[in-house]
Amino acid sequence: MCFNVAIDGPSGAGKSVIALKIADKYNLLHINSGAMYRVIALKVLKTNTDKDDENAIINIIQSTKITLLPKQVVYMDGEDVTQAIRHEEISKLSSYISKHKMVRKLLVEQQKEMVRSKNCIMEGRDITTVVIPDAEIKIYLTASVDVRAKRRYLDLVNRNMQADLDVIKLDIINRDTQDMNRTESPLVQAPDAHVVDSSYLSIDETVEEISKYIDDFKVRNRKDDCYD
Ligand code: DC
Repeated sequence: MCFNVAIDGPSGAGKSVIALKIADKYNLLHINSGAMYRVIALKVLKTNTDKDDENAIINIIQSTKITLLPKQVVYMDGEDVTQAIRHEEISKLSSYISKHKMVRKLLVEQQKEMVRSKNCIMEGRDITTVVIPDAEIKIYLTASVDVRAKRRYLDLVNRNMQADLDVIKLDIINRDTQDMNRTESPLVQAPDAHVVDSSYLSIDETVEEISKYIDDFKVRNRKDDCYD
C-alpha cells in the first residue's frame, strides 16, 4: 500500500516548487505530469504535426520515450529537453493538445503506472480527480491571476529575460480558460481536496500548510508502516 499526495491547480500557482519541497521533506518521488504533456507538445512542434490531428499525436505518444528524472530533468528519446519544454510556445501547445481524449487516456495510463508501487507526490490538472482519485492527501493549490502573473514576471526579470506583465496575465487567463473548460477531465477542485490559496503565503508558509494535512493524516494512520 502506498502513500500518495496529489496536487492540482492552475498554471503558475507554484505547484512544482511546493511539490519538490514536500517530496524532500517526506521522502516522496516527485512527478510533474505537465512535463509529459510538454514533451509531446515539443515533438508535435518539431515534427510539424497538426495540433488537431489526434491520431498523429497518439502515434507520437506511442513512439516517444519520456524520462522524468530528479530535479525536474526531462529526456525525450534520450535527449535532454529540460529547457526546451519550458518555452512559452510549448506552454500554450501542451495546454491545447491536452484537450484530446485519447492523448489524455494514454498519458494517464502511464501516470497511473508510475504511482502504483511508489510513495509519490504528483502534480498536474487531473491528478486528484482522475490519475490518483484515492490519493491519501489531495490538494488544490491556487493563487489569484494577478499574483501568478506577477510571480512569473519577476521570475523572468530575475533571469534577465524579456517580460511584459499584461501579456503574461493574458497568457495565464487563456491557459486557465483552456485547462478549466475542456470537455475531457478539466481542471476542477475535487470535492475532497484541501484548497490552499497561496496568494498571500510565502513558499515556506504554503509548505507548512500542506504539511499540516500530511502530518495529521500520518498521526491518524500511524499503525500502517507505509505512512511513517
Ligand atoms: O503543469 P504545466 O503547466 O507544466 O502543464 C502544461 C499543460 O499540460 C497544462 O496547461 C495542461 C496540461 N496538463 C494536463 O492537461 N493535465 C495534467 N495532469 C498536467 C498538465
